[in-house]
Amino acid sequence: MIIILIGYMASGKSTIGKKLAEKLKCDLVDLDDYIEEKEQLTVTEIFKNKGEIYFRKQETHYLKELLASESQIILSLGGGTPCFGNNMELILNEEHATSIYLRASLPTLVKKLIKKKAKRPLIAHLETEEELTEFIGKHLFERSAFYNQAEVVISTDNKSKKDIVNEITTKLF
Ligand code: S3P
Repeated sequence: MIIILIGYMASGKSTIGKKLAEKLKCDLVDLDDYIEEKEQLTVTEIFKNKGEIYFRKQETHYLKELLASESQIILSLGGGTPCFGNNMELILNEEHATSIYLRASLPTLVKKLIKKKAKRPLIAHLETEEELTEFIGKHLFERSAFYNQAEVVISTDNKSKKDIVNEITTKLF
């Protein structure tokens, strides 16, 4: 089984993925890390040198490769992965995969992303909290239509990592 974590940037996909992988004793694959390893470039370098369209093409390519995996893995996607091409359809049609949307509110995301925007090419240029709030608010609204198609939706605001992991395992098993 592949457990797929989806959600906006900084929604906790990688951190929750790590804890969940420890609990379920399986491997965690982070799609961004996987792309960086395969392409031998960081996500920021790919955006800068090759452009977003190239990144999205490769993202779909490696998503398909991982969805075909026979092993038990937790797969943490990039924030945009479900929202491009037919990626969400691929995810939902994969019989041995279950998708989980980690839903965080706009203020929570803004608070986290103010500190963590440097490595994220889509928001690195935004300077003030107001700019970030405006951009993320619109972006999240557009993307929610994709995220909400996930089989399981977990609200993460004001919950500990442990509680979120427990909620996921209770809903899955
Ligand atoms: C992106 C999110 C990033 C990374 C890339 C694009 C997005 O992943 O894939 O910068 O479109 O939201 P994280 O969600 O892990 O930051």
